[in-house]
Amino acid sequence: MIMEVNSGNNQVLSKLATNNEHGENSSYFDGWKAYDNNPFHPTKNPNGVIQMGLAENQLSFDLIEKWIKKNPKASICSPQGVDAFKDIAIFQDYHGLPEFRNVVAKFMAKSRGGKVNFDPERIIMAGGATGANELLMFCLANPGDAFLIPTPYYPAFDRDLRWRTGVQLLPVVCESLNKFRITKEALEEAYENAQKANIKVKGLIFTNPSNPLGTTMDKATLKTLITFINDKHIHIVCDEVYAATVHTLDYVSISEVAQEMEDRCNLDLIHVVYSLSKDMGLPGFRVGIVYSYNDTVVNIGRKMSSFGLVSSQTQHLLASMLSDEKFVDEFLSESTKRLANRHELFTKGLEHVGIRCLKSNAGLFCWMDLKPLLKEPTFEEEMRLWRVIINEVKINVSPGSSFHCHEPGWFRVCFANMDDETMEVALTRIRMFVENGQEMAKMVAKKEHKMWRRALTLNLSSQMFDENVKMNVPISSPHMMSPHSPLLRART
Ligand SMILES: Cc1ncc(COP(=O)(O)O)c(C=O)c1O
Repeated sequence: MIMEVNSGNNQVLSKLATNNEHGENSSYFDGWKAYDNNPFHPTKNPNGVIQMGLAENQLSFDLIEKWIKKNPKASICSPQGVDAFKDIAIFQDYHGLPEFRNVVAKFMAKSRGGKVNFDPERIIMAGGATGANELLMFCLANPGDAFLIPTPYYPAFDRDLRWRTGVQLLPVVCESLNKFRITKEALEEAYENAQKANIKVKGLIFTNPSNPLGTTMDKATLKTLITFINDKHIHIVCDEVYAATVHTLDYVSISEVAQEMEDRCNLDLIHVVYSLSKDMGLPGFRVGIVYSYNDTVVNIGRKMSSFGLVSSQTQHLLASMLSDEKFVDEFLSESTKRLANRHELFTKGLEHVGIRCLKSNAGLFCWMDLKPLLKEPTFEEEMRLWRVIINEVKINVSPGSSFHCHEPGWFRVCFANMDDETMEVALTRIRMFVENGQEMAKMVAKKEHKMWRRALTLNLSSQMFDENVKMNVPISSPHMMSPHSPLLRART
């Protein structure tokens, strides 16, 4: 019956509506579904799934809320601000409110350490960075053309960059051996492979700071990338949505390097994507920006932005908030501090139980190395471990394969979308997962297998138990840490 309905739809709906290219059938999104079906709550559902697969910044909401309370005139829905209601309600120009573009340009400069300026006339609005990335693909490439992309990369790029545009993504393979840095050799290889396959390469796209690695690029690497695209005469799109989501103050934007190399590179090939989703923690506001150095892209992009404008109500509020320079300075400095603290607490907690992460200095996540927990270095094993973590430890982390990582055993874990207490619960679960597994391995070695099973009096599936014994690696019973965790019991 379902088959009939589907095949019926295939005939009456478009190819776009009935194809699977949106990529939402990946484990990255499956993890979100597992959380949605059983979300953790400290008192109402303490054994639920903790969402650590969502790159959200919830650490500085209080600062924004405080500003809103102090500035009721900024909102057209308050008695103090309602006088502006009519004008804002009818505003629909795709260039955007001039005051909004001005403050966004200033904010982009501040969030990049004030080392580079942005021209408000080059700012194009879009529905989040999601819309901004797609808009750029529509401007720069034809269906079938390709963009090179270093791996591992943000899984939703498969949807955002490819689905509706028909653009292909070709991996530039990066390896853990050199900390996943992009090399000139890997770029050349990917480019040559495309040429051999007769695929037209239109550009290179990457995130800096990187999602999922949480690392920033140094100036030398950015220069290499600009030289590469300049030699090939292809575009560069740099997604900088995490520009101010850094724990150190040495971030280098592509704009800074491009302006330095102005006499050696064609600025028409350089485009930046930005949004307020991460740096200000406002993904629901859908404020996305394309900043292009190419006049034609600015012109056409503005027209295309009609399909994904930022609402004038949001523009109005943000124009007021971001023009408060004292607030912006304090917000950026405090947010950086809080992120750095959270990152330190979380990574130290992981280190304590022997979990290593790639050294990082940005982003809302860590790139965890769980290779030691794999029975063998395969993606099947990575998925098996992921299923244990999600179903039994009840934490949604995202497997490296969903980021197109070429080496099994890496997982992305987000740490800024929760309060301190939830993070502690997550760390306790991880700690018990690892420690109980190690304990179990020792007991097995001492042939105390039966005693251990009795002692637990838990509902551990024998299949998993046997697998663990065979593996002799620290995979533990997930049930150990759910209803019986002292920490959780204390909160109910
Ligand atoms: C690298 C990257 N680009 C774009 C996005 C989408 O951001 P937005 O909410 O602004 O659409 C994300 C969100 O996680 C991201 O990590």
